[in-house]
Amino acid sequence: MRPLDAIILAAGEGTRMKSELPKVLHVICGRPMIAYALDIAASAGVKQPVVVLGHGADHVKPHLPKGGKVVTQTKQLGTGDAVLAAKRALSGTGDVLILYADTPLLRRTTVQRLIETHFKTNATCTLLTAHLADPSSYGRILRNELGAIIGIAEETEATAVQRAIREVNVGPLVCKTQALMDALATVRPSTTKKELYLTHIVSHIARQEGTKIQASRVEEIAEALGINSRTELARAIGVIRQRIVDAHLHNGVTIEDAQSTFIDHGVSIGADTVVHPYTVIQTGVSIGKRCSIGPFARLRSGVAVADDVRIGNFVELVRTKVASHVRINHVAYLGDTTVEQDVNIGAGTITANYDGKNKHQTHIGKGAFIGSDTVLIAPVKIGARAVTGAGSVVTREHDVPDQGVVVGVPARPLGNGKPSGRLAAPSALSEKAPRVPVTAGTSAANAHPAGKAKPAAKKRHAVVKKRVAATQRNKTAARRPAKKATARPIPRRVRAQRVVRKNTRTRSNARRATQKARR
Ligand code: UD1
Ligand code: CA
Repeated sequence: MRPLDAIILAAGEGTRMKSELPKVLHVICGRPMIAYALDIAASAGVKQPVVVLGHGADHVKPHLPKGGKVVTQTKQLGTGDAVLAAKRALSGTGDVLILYADTPLLRRTTVQRLIETHFKTNATCTLLTAHLADPSSYGRILRNELGAIIGIAEETEATAVQRAIREVNVGPLVCKTQALMDALATVRPSTTKKELYLTHIVSHIARQEGTKIQASRVEEIAEALGINSRTELARAIGVIRQRIVDAHLHNGVTIEDAQSTFIDHGVSIGADTVVHPYTVIQTGVSIGKRCSIGPFARLRSGVAVADDVRIGNFVELVRTKVASHVRINHVAYLGDTTVEQDVNIGAGTITANYDGKNKHQTHIGKGAFIGSDTVLIAPVKIGARAVTGAGSVVTREHDVPDQGVVVGVPARPLGNGKPSGRLAAPSALSEKAPRVPVTAGTSAANAHPAGKAKPAAKKRHAVVKKRVAATQRNKTAARRPAKKATARPIPRRVRAQRVVRKNTRTRSNARRATQKARR
């Protein structure tokens, strides 16, 4: 194989998107459109493609690989002009693969086949084509009576007969670099749009002695989709979303409803995990085996979930690590948090991780029990097997020690915060319900896959609840002032009211009766 260069055309304004954002930065399943073209170039073995930028170049640059070759097309004078702008950055005089940054549905294998066809047939130029039921807006492939390609007619310049042709130019092509440049030198701006069309090189090459123009077809019609409008963008998102779902299904993940599951590019999910409907999982998230995710869960960037974890409805996680056998079953937000093994996060738990300026970390130790409606104001640490009572607000830097129990607003330790006697719920518990060491991979862990709460965990849960309630009752009782030994005389008016209220039901009756009694 001769050396291969690549050019990615990404300078166009994308007027039809009606957007301030450059077209190639519109996001498809978690990454900008241009990332798909960069991937294709890499899979074709091209280490440093030349990326042609123009409109919004400064915004696009940060999305390119560091040290990549970038050229600027100062005025967007057409795809032919864009290729000319890249000329000086090409490394050799071998062959060049040209990719349009607005065809993100292309499969790697399709482009690999295009390149193979080009080299195997020793073609001068090889085009990628598709047969579309509705070819409008695409360049039509023109062939002579022998079937040889003789040119491409763009929509704006095509005759009625040419517009009826269903074989279209998908965009990518491979061409001998010298032949490409020679042809481009002869191309004149189109009469209609005054742009230099790259596609006009085809008729020029076809006229030269000893040249050969080949075509390779897409494997799947959807691949041909060029993104010029929001409607096409929405279609592309739909196709890529389905491809991502298919890949996870293939790997042994259950996805109950593909239509309502939104998994970005670059997510890993272990086998036997079930993803329930209306779940959003963003780029970079990793989920272990045998987990249950959703319905209505949102896992954002920087989330790593280990094996056998349950994440239920209306749970949002961001930049959070969750160890195995953790349960976050209902309505919770954890940001910048580390959750160790076997923790239970009660309904309504919120980490207040952002103070308006900075984000802070929360650490929840192994086996901790976070009561419903707990607010954890970061930075804060909850010790191993510690307990927070329902409705507690654990304030920043007021760390809860291992096995400590805190309640209230702001949360204060029970029993001086020291694990002792009845208050040390989890330790006392361990005598009653011995804890099975649950590390991923042990047979004990595997015996209780996500979906079924372990009996020990259930029992522990109930006992912890009882203990927190009991200690809360004790505390309130302790705060109540002791009753005085001597009874105060009860005023006559109050005595009368009491008697009457006892015998009457409605307020108005009571009022009338009180007046009567006073008289
Ligand atoms: C182009 C092809 C058409 C093909 C279709 C497939 C031409 C003349 N036409 O039409 O045959 O069927 O794609 O989707 O090539 N760009 C630049 N600089 C410019 C103009 C465009 O870099 O001056 C880039 C754009 O950012 C885009 C790509 O080239 O990524 C294609 O440009 P676009 O204007 O979308 O071409 P189409 O009209 O779709
Ligand atoms: Ca286009």
